[in-house]
This record gives sequence, structure tokens and C-alpha cells, in this order.
Amino acid sequence: MNHPDTVSIDLGARSYDILVLPRMLEVVHSHPALPEASSALIVTNRVVGPLYAENWVRGLAKRYPKVHVLELPDGEEHKNWQTLNLIFDALLQHGCDRKTVLFALGGGVVGDMTGFAAACYMRGVPFVQVPTTLLSQVDSSVGGKTGINHPLGKNMIGAFYQPRLVVCDLATLDTLPQRELSAGLAEVIKYGPIADMEFMAWLEASMDALLAREHGALAHAVRRSCEIKAWVVSQDEREAGLRAILNFGHTFGHAIEAGLGYGAWLHGEAVGAGMVMAAELSQRLGMADAALVQRLRRLIARAGLPVRGAVLDARDNAGRYLELMRVDKKAEAGEIRFVLIDGPGKAVLRPVADALVREVIDACCA
Ligand code: NAD
Ligand code: GLY
Repeated sequence: MNHPDTVSIDLGARSYDILVLPRMLEVVHSHPALPEASSALIVTNRVVGPLYAENWVRGLAKRYPKVHVLELPDGEEHKNWQTLNLIFDALLQHGCDRKTVLFALGGGVVGDMTGFAAACYMRGVPFVQVPTTLLSQVDSSVGGKTGINHPLGKNMIGAFYQPRLVVCDLATLDTLPQRELSAGLAEVIKYGPIADMEFMAWLEASMDALLAREHGALAHAVRRSCEIKAWVVSQDEREAGLRAILNFGHTFGHAIEAGLGYGAWLHGEAVGAGMVMAAELSQRLGMADAALVQRLRRLIARAGLPVRGAVLDARDNAGRYLELMRVDKKAEAGEIRFVLIDGPGKAVLRPVADALVREVIDACCA
């Protein structure tokens, strides 16, 4: 299928397409990138399964002799070993062999866990991402980061493992709760200040249309986000350097998620507040001007996201953030490295003195 609504990610033998269209299902079962397999397992959850799994079973039955469905419990707090094991249980109980393809039908939680299961099962079986949240369509389904959380740190156990195809069916966004739509907008907004100020200006002009779920606006937001992510990942698949910029706001955000307990704030909400904190830090280092930080703060607030961090410890809040942030994957020898804005549309990764980070946390938490 060669369609203008296809974004390609160039990773040599592991290259694949991201399809962005309303109602993809009607055509997807005949897509040439779908792997040959004797069976398919659709991994979804108890919220998304009842909405969309039946249609996918019907579509995929035209392509695969056996199609199974597994519904996982819903929520970030279930992104762990116990839930991952349910996928292995299902694969083994159904007698799935190496010629099995996994379909991740759901948001980033389902996508990250299914991808990790695919990387591990029989040392690797193919998988396809079918992201159904805005966040997963613009970010988590693309680029091959898969994994689960550890109580001591977010996404700490995992693998780089690329899908064969990503299918973003915009129609699935119609049923997404408004809070989840806002959370997804955090990962859309991040692409502006780190890579594309024209996109940031477009977001400022289009925020109302996005919040009203106009498909034209959503299609552009998903496509442009995927283009930027594909461009970054094709240059640095395993995050040796450049790819870390996609973690703008995530160092502070992951501390909020782990500190409050997974699921208390949505990932995108934590990233929203985290981007403001990272931008403030950049400003205090003289790398970003106040006007840019203010524009970003306003855009994040308009998307319905928090612009102030959570208080994680009433006695020593900054100390608790620092402790949690030292477990970040970008940290080296216990030194935290932050994604900072280095002028409009450009980001860099740098360590920052604890004293300045403390100042920002004190200034930015509610
Ligand atoms: P999620 O998967 O928890 O989905 C959010 C909620 O929406 C869930 O309750 C889900 O059941 C529900 N839902 C999903 N699709 C729906 C639909 N179409 N209609 C109605 N309800 C629907 O959360 P998320 O925001 O999609 O993903 C967050 C996760 O993604 C985090 O674990 C984060 O770490 C991860 N992530 C990974 C990457 C990566 O590169 N792999 C990047 C960013 C985020
Ligand atoms: N979401 C950050 C990355 O994929 O690198």
C-alpha cells in the first residue's frame, strides 16, 4: 500500500510504515507488511477489547487461520511482570509457535507490554501496533521502545524491538475520554519546542480543533508527530544520543509518576508539568528565553494539562524528586541528565547542578 497517509520509518531491514487514516480496519488485513503467520494473538485490555476487538478478529480472520484475543487488566499500575506473564500464559495455552503474530490493540500500556512480550516469546515473534489513544498514536507505538515498570523506576525493564507495521485508526479516538485526549496532547506538544517551531505555532492555532477531535486536525497532529519521531529514531534507534530529546519533560514527569504511585497522574499529565519544569530549567541556564517558556506553559494549560508539578514529599520535596530522578535511564553514574531547550526548536541533553534543579522544583510545584 503506497498511500499519502503513510509515514515511513527508515531502519534498514527493520523499516516499517505508520498508517494514519480514519477506519483503517477495512483495508489493513490485506496489507503486505503483515507477517505470514499460522496464528494471531490480539492483546488488548478490558476497556478497549469490548469496543474494538471483535472487528479486528473479523478482519484478521481473513488473513490468519487462528485469531485469539487476550484482555489484560486496564491501567498503568498493571504494566508489570504479573500482567506481562498473562501474555506468555495465553501464547503457551493456545499452542502458539514461532509463526505467531501479536497485535497490540490499545494505548501505550498495552503497546509497550505486547511489544516486550513479542521480543521475548520464543526469542522474538513479529508484532503490529494498533494504537488507540492519541498518546500511543503520536509516540509510544513508533520507535520500538517496549517494556514494563519496576516499583523503583518507570519503564526500567524492556527491550528495543520494532513492530512490523503501525496502524493509527483515527476513528478510535472518538471514544477516548477527554482527560486521555489531553494526556496525548502532551506528547504532541513536546515535538514543537524540541524540533519544529512551525508545528508549535500550528498547535497554538489548532488547539480548539484538536480538543473538539476534528479528524482533519488530529490527522495532521498524528502525521507530523510521527514524521518527527521517525526522523529522530531513524538516526538514533537505540538512544545513543539524539533520541533522548524525545524525553523532554520526562525526567521530572517520571519522578511524578513513580513518586505518586503509577496511575495517580496520567503519563501525559506528568509530562505536561515536567515540560514546564524542564523549560524553566533551560531559562535559568540562559538557554531559553522567558517568552518561549511562557508560550509553552500557555499551550500546555490550554490542552487541559497541569503546568505545576506535584508535591511528592512535604518535608523535602526537591530531595525526593532528585532521588527518583537518579533512577532515570538517561542518568550516568548517578548524575541526572536533563533534556533542555537550547533555543526555539532545538534540544540538548545535559547534566545540571542539583542546587539549580532544587530551585526549579521549589518554584514549580504546587
Ligand atoms: P493507556 O494505555 O493506559 O490508555 C489510557 C486509557 O485509555 C486506558 O484506560 C485505556 O484502556 C483507555 N483507552 C485506550 N484506547 C481507548 C479508546 N480508543 N477509547 C476509550 N478508551 C481507550 O495510556 P497511554 O496514554 O496510551 O500510554 C501511556 C503509556 O505509554 C505509559 O506507560 C508510558 O510509559 C508509555 N509510553 C511509551 C513510549 C514508548 O516510546 N514506548 C512513549 C510514550 C509513552
Ligand atoms: N518516547 C520517547 C522515545 O521513544 O524515545
